[in-house]
Amino acid sequence: MKVGIVGTGYVGLVVGACLAETGNEVVCADLDEKKIAGLKQNHLPIYEPGLEPLVVRNQRDGRLQFSTDVGAVVERSEVIFIAVGTPPDEDGSADLQHVLDVARTIGEHMNESKVVVTKSTVPVGTAEKVRAEIARHTKTAFHVCSNPEFLKEGAAIEDFMKPDRVVVGVDSPEAGRVIEELYAPFVRTGNPLIVMDIPSAEMTKYAANAMLATRISFMNQIARLCEAVGADVGHVRKGIGSDRRIGQAFLFPGPGYGGSCFPKDVKALIRKGETAAVPLGILKAVETANEAQKHTLFEKVQRHLGSTLKGRTVAVWGLAFKAETDDVRESPALVLVNELRAAGATVRAHDPAAIETAKHVLGTTGITYVAHAYDALEGADVLVIVTEWLEYRNPDFARVKQLLKQPLIVDGRNLYDPDRLARQGFTYDSIGRRPR
Ligand SMILES: NC(=O)c1ccc[n+]([C@@H]2O[C@H](COP(=O)([O-])OP(=O)(O)OC[C@H]3O[C@@H](n4cnc5c(N)ncnc54)[C@H](O)[C@@H]3O)[C@@H](O)[C@H]2O)c1
Repeated sequence: MKVGIVGTGYVGLVVGACLAETGNEVVCADLDEKKIAGLKQNHLPIYEPGLEPLVVRNQRDGRLQFSTDVGAVVERSEVIFIAVGTPPDEDGSADLQHVLDVARTIGEHMNESKVVVTKSTVPVGTAEKVRAEIARHTKTAFHVCSNPEFLKEGAAIEDFMKPDRVVVGVDSPEAGRVIEELYAPFVRTGNPLIVMDIPSAEMTKYAANAMLATRISFMNQIARLCEAVGADVGHVRKGIGSDRRIGQAFLFPGPGYGGSCFPKDVKALIRKGETAAVPLGILKAVETANEAQKHTLFEKVQRHLGSTLKGRTVAVWGLAFKAETDDVRESPALVLVNELRAAGATVRAHDPAAIETAKHVLGTTGITYVAHAYDALEGADVLVIVTEWLEYRNPDFARVKQLLKQPLIVDGRNLYDPDRLARQGFTYDSIGRRPR
């Protein structure tokens, strides 16, 4: 099938590469000329495990192409995915400007009937706005679908190739058949392709992210209480997770959720509730809890080193909002680094993939970026762990102790056994567990 993807970011590039891998002829379009020029040379603009070989192979075999000419891509495509960004507007609602820009271009280049799929996360009613915008510019009949994306950065290829489920909202059986054909290779083992009406599909994506964010904030607050009353959140997590109604996944406390999705999607859903006169108090609490949680690591550092950190050096392991990505959007590490600098500390930071993206946001004042994790520790008063990268999970603790000025670790991901660290002579403070 001839597929066009408009918006070649974390989502668009993964979707394009995976659809090319299953034999479709895909062109990914983006307005960012530098990004497209790089991709034509197989230079990937993002770090995503397993993506590069897919791009290289499919580009070599002619099934995957890149273009800045969105109109031409629309004209040659039978199915067009809109995968541009939907950042928060000033009032928290999703900013649909990019989505509607693309809809206008699609309308202007609608040379024959096509299926237009909104892949971006968009509030209920957006597909109808897309339909209206396209229809303003063409008399040709077309279909609109909503196909929200559930991939996780860091595991995006696996998630797209073997999805738990595919959700699609359609306006006609024909459009449903086109989407079913495209997704057939990915749901062969029986995971469901769930077809529904368009507003329900749009709502499903927000409800899923809001539920996941709620689990995280819930566990973070339980962790705080565990610390205060002398319980261990690790045991509590196992104790509740083995209840099948609750399940094990997504119960790890941490330094607060970040990334490009949960914060903005929770905000957008709260806003949607307000405009529909259905206040979503639960989600407001989730958001407030998460904002508070992002200060936890800084507060712990202050508890150990004193409130003024002038002249102190803090080693930070991890800048990405989670492991296996270079994405630092809304990362708790950004909050931590800014608080440390404001309190007079200097920061030595390491991340296996996110140093370049972090530099764009944090700059270089009061922070030194190092290429190797141990280099961050030299002369530091404390090591703070923000991201759960695999390479931080089993370090040489003797070396860590030798490099640090004092054996102090604040761990936002509960990577280590507190008793083991205590035996090795560390002061070890993690989330929801009694400090040792
Ligand atoms: N990142 C994720 O993990 C994830 C997961 C599921 C859903 N989503 C949703 O998917 C959408 C895209 O997210 P992303 O993380 O890929 O964003 P992104 O910022 O990485 O990529 C968006 C791309 O769209 C391009 N663009 C913007 N306006 C354009 C236009 N008019 N024409 C052509 N290209 C244009 C930008 O240059 C950019 O390359 C968002 O709605 C997001 O909420 C993201």
